[in-house]
Amino acid sequence: RYLTENELTQECIDLISSLPAEKGWVATKLYKYQGFWHTSRQLQGVLSCQKHFQAQDTDILLVTTPKSGTTWLKSLLFALVNRSRFTLTLDQHPLLSNNPHMLVPFLELKLYVEDENPDLSCFTSPRLFSTHLPYISLPKSIMDSNCKTVYLCRNPKDTFISLWAFTNKLRLDEMGTNSLHDVFEKFCRGVSLYGPFWDHVLGYWEESVKNPEKVFFIKYEEMKEQPELHLRKLADFLGCSFSSKEVKENIVESIVEMCSFDNLSSLKVNKEGKLPSGEDNSAFFRNGKVGDWKNYLTPEMVDRLDKISEEKLNGSGLKF
Ligand code: A3P
Repeated sequence: RYLTENELTQECIDLISSLPAEKGWVATKLYKYQGFWHTSRQLQGVLSCQKHFQAQDTDILLVTTPKSGTTWLKSLLFALVNRSRFTLTLDQHPLLSNNPHMLVPFLELKLYVEDENPDLSCFTSPRLFSTHLPYISLPKSIMDSNCKTVYLCRNPKDTFISLWAFTNKLRLDEMGTNSLHDVFEKFCRGVSLYGPFWDHVLGYWEESVKNPEKVFFIKYEEMKEQPELHLRKLADFLGCSFSSKEVKENIVESIVEMCSFDNLSSLKVNKEGKLPSGEDNSAFFRNGKVGDWKNYLTPEMVDRLDKISEEKLNGSGLKF
């Protein structure tokens, strides 16, 4: 659901009037705040969580660029962290009847936009939250605490195609779809949800290099290639390593299998359900492949994205 202008706080309305604005990809405008582009609803949530969210040392924060596999990592983290509470072999696992976004809520897109200062006392420890916020905009208490951050991104070509397809699904029929060409220009200029994409990725990459015990940096492509290996690394990073008994019992494989694209996308809840914010759960499952961009981008587009990546990431040690 999109907040209307008169549901925004006066502080947010005043802020918006002072920010650079551009036409967005769906229905609403995008505003540039702290160097990144947000919708007005998002911005309301950003301001509220920056003001009120109090991180705890045991919290786990999943940060992602939009369309990098957030839904997938939410399911993996939820299953991993709660594996002693919910047995994987039973059909009652919460992931079988809930969309992962309901189990690992976004700070600024759910908790702090539905309520300016929500009561989080019902969360069991370790609390698992997610956000698309760039590093620079994280609530201060996150930086000040010892909570752990898992950062997920994806190569910009697949991210762009996935975002184009997703935002077209969110557009009302009468609006028609965005042409690939038009939104490509915007993406390259950095005008996309939580864009510029490259600045977002770099912010967390640099932090993960400085503080590897605090920020775990992973790419969708790596996770797709060796999900068991990276799930085990994630468990080690989060301080909940798999025991040799669990390894013998194939718990790692069971989590990966339960959270696989084929399994999650075939569940009734994800085929027919909707999020309270209005999106069909099925919109978060398209084809889940690496390299689908080859079916859409022209050689010129590929060249342009590669050049931007080279320029922006030059010297950082990060490559796509
Ligand atoms: P595609 O559009 O390329 O298919 P997000 O969750 O950040 O919105 O990202 C959505 C992307 O992740 C979509 O990519 C979607 O298909 C893919 N995805 C969703 N669930 C997945 C899973 N369990 N395994 C792998 N990819 C998944």
